[in-house]
Amino acid sequence: MTRTFLLDGRTIPFAEGQTVMDAAIAAGVYIPHLCHHPDFKPQGSCRLCTVEIDGRTTSACTLPARDGLVVKSETDELNAARRTITRFLFVEGNHTCPSCEKSGNCTLQAVAYHLDVEEPKYPHFHPRRAVDASHPDVFLARDRCTYCDLCVRASRDVDGK
Ligand code: FES
Repeated sequence: MTRTFLLDGRTIPFAEGQTVMDAAIAAGVYIPHLCHHPDFKPQGSCRLCTVEIDGRTTSACTLPARDGLVVKSETDELNAARRTITRFLFVEGNHTCPSCEKSGNCTLQAVAYHLDVEEPKYPHFHPRRAVDASHPDVFLARDRCTYCDLCVRASRDVDGK
C-alpha cells in the first residue's frame, strides 16, 4: 500500500526515510528552499521551507514524512515570512541576477520568482567582502553568500576536510 500525506490538499506519496521535502520534490511539488540539497543531510537553517502542521510550524526539509500528515505550505502567512527572508538576503549581499553566470540555475532566484519578489523593498547594504580564490576547486564570493552552508557541508561531509 502506498504511503501518503497531504500537502496543500494534494496527496503526496512517500517512501520510508523520505522527508516531506524529499517527497514533495519527487512528486513535482515545489516548497521554497535554500539550504536543502538532495546530496547532503538536511540542516534546516534557512527556514524558507517552513510549513504548517496542526497550527505549528517546522522545516519541511527536516521533517520525516508520515502517513496522514496534513501539511500546509502555500499559505499567505508562510509566504509573507518567506518573502521577508528573501528580501533580507537580496539586500544583505550583492546579488546581480542579470549579470550573474548562475542566473537561471540559482536557488535564491528560484525562491524570489516563486514568491514574486522582483524588486527591492529595503535599502541595499552593498557589502565589500573579500573574495577567496585560493582553493583550486572553490571560488568563495562572500558578498553573494546566502548562508545555506552547502559549501561547508560539501567540504566537511563529502571531502572530509
Ligand atoms: Fe529547509 Fe532551508 S530548506 S530550512
